Amino acid sequence: MALRLRALTRLLRAAATAPAAAITPAAAIALAAAITLPALTAATAADLQQAAGSSPAASAVLHADQPGAKIDRHLYGQFAEHLGRGIEEGVWVGEHSAIPNTRGFRNDVVAALRELHVPVVRWPGGCFADEYHWRDGIGPRAARPVTLNTNWGGVPETNAFGTHEFLDFAELIGADAYVNGNLGTGSPREMAEWLQYMTSDKATSLTAERARNGHPNPWKIAYFAVGNEAWGCGGNMTPEYYVDLYRQYASFLKAPMGARPIIIASGGNDDDTAWTTALISNTSLISKMRSGMGAISFHYYTIPGDRWQAKGPTTGFGEEQWISTLAHTLKMDDFIRQNSEVMDKYDPAKKVAFAVDEWGTWYDPEPGREPGFLYQQNTLRDAIVAALNFNVFHRHADRVRLANIAQMVNVLQAMILTKGPQMILTPTYHAFKMFAPFQDATYLPIDANVPRYTLGPASVPAISMSAARTADGAIAVALVNLDPNKAISVSVTLSGAAVKHVSGSILTASAMDARNTFEIPNAVRPAAFSSASLTGATLSATLPAKSIVVLNLQ
Ligand code: AHR
Repeated sequence: MALRLRALTRLLRAAATAPAAAITPAAAIALAAAITLPALTAATAADLQQAAGSSPAASAVLHADQPGAKIDRHLYGQFAEHLGRGIEEGVWVGEHSAIPNTRGFRNDVVAALRELHVPVVRWPGGCFADEYHWRDGIGPRAARPVTLNTNWGGVPETNAFGTHEFLDFAELIGADAYVNGNLGTGSPREMAEWLQYMTSDKATSLTAERARNGHPNPWKIAYFAVGNEAWGCGGNMTPEYYVDLYRQYASFLKAPMGARPIIIASGGNDDDTAWTTALISNTSLISKMRSGMGAISFHYYTIPGDRWQAKGPTTGFGEEQWISTLAHTLKMDDFIRQNSEVMDKYDPAKKVAFAVDEWGTWYDPEPGREPGFLYQQNTLRDAIVAALNFNVFHRHADRVRLANIAQMVNVLQAMILTKGPQMILTPTYHAFKMFAPFQDATYLPIDANVPRYTLGPASVPAISMSAARTADGAIAVALVNLDPNKAISVSVTLSGAAVKHVSGSILTASAMDARNTFEIPNAVRPAAFSSASLTGATLSATLPAKSIVVLNLQ
């Protein structure tokens, strides 16, 4: 009996994985009946569906006539810290390198990032920022001091990549600049002069020095942060102590009229709302010109396990780790909601943004690598994590107006991995690229009724979705199937939209930890998705197991 059930299961699985053969429960029962198995009468349609890995259904209504907030393009930001090979080797190889470069920046990495439409890059940290003294990174490179990177591997820092290099790099890839100031070991004067050095348009000794160093004109700095993780590596402060320091430091952050960056206060992480509460309840920070706080930062990393000491491996993980990673990622929604509720109380006009300026996956260090360098491979699971976070950010676009994945190259959930002169694009890179139409689009709400994906005690909604009206009037729809075993059919009623044409792309693979390597660089990459259809006002698509689909409706 058990053998025959297994044979049936295999048959059903084969039917379900054949292209476009999304088997319905009814079809599964018909198939079972056709091979006359007496005990099958006891099996329910759901059991059969489970066994077959076939296609349960999700339905939704997309309200195209109820546009919401603008999805700020800065939600698709990146983070580049002086950490491991994130900058040196990853971005910067120096002008004399044999690796093809422009003024020291790798041509391959620059080209890939330009294609990604990176809207903003955060630099120089992270924890590194609170020990970074900007004067170490200006002037002739040969004369710059070699300092110690105490946070990340305790390695020497050459300071070859400093303020000019960062701002040149940001310009080269077409991104806005987000500079993180040093509150932990700096001074109000040091921070104030750094901002002046970068932005002042007046003839002073500082701006003359900037000109001597190769940049007579001021730069535009989009965001400037007062410290990083003040609750931890940034000084182990209490929220109340930080609020006072923030007021002091921010009072001296001056820039020419119209060129003042959005000033970001260092906030909390995970489920801790105490930092947001302390900052936003200090209502004078919202209204004051000088110390005016444009955003509160927030950090949340996805780890598969429950302990930082045993986070879980990057590759070679089982389904338990798959579902726990996705379940932990979805907590981002609760954390943003909790912080937004606090902010709404004191700032109902939503003047102050919530900036998720560090997010992404963080796994155990790979064996044989320097643990302090945080290098990790990147798999289909990471791409799904990215897509889930994007959908969460879209839903909160009225408050979350900046986000920076950690990090850009060779560190944590990277877009790009390099090895000597070689470069590969990760599944996360592809997820970012597929979601590019959402940058500066207008959020469209969706009411959805989706099945659940369950494994033992863990359970998550099997489908995540979001939609937006893009700048050219099209509708972008992002659909993610979290279930690694089952295709799921989705039917979306389009309310208030007349569309005639659908096209799209898909990112999926057969293994949960499918990845690109230096040997096989294109194992995971997007493909055209042609199985979505429009019938009147109904959009239908069957999403293969563990897939990301982004559709364009015109
Ligand atoms: O992204 C790596 C580190 O994680 C950052 O330096 C720090 O801010 C966070 O704890």
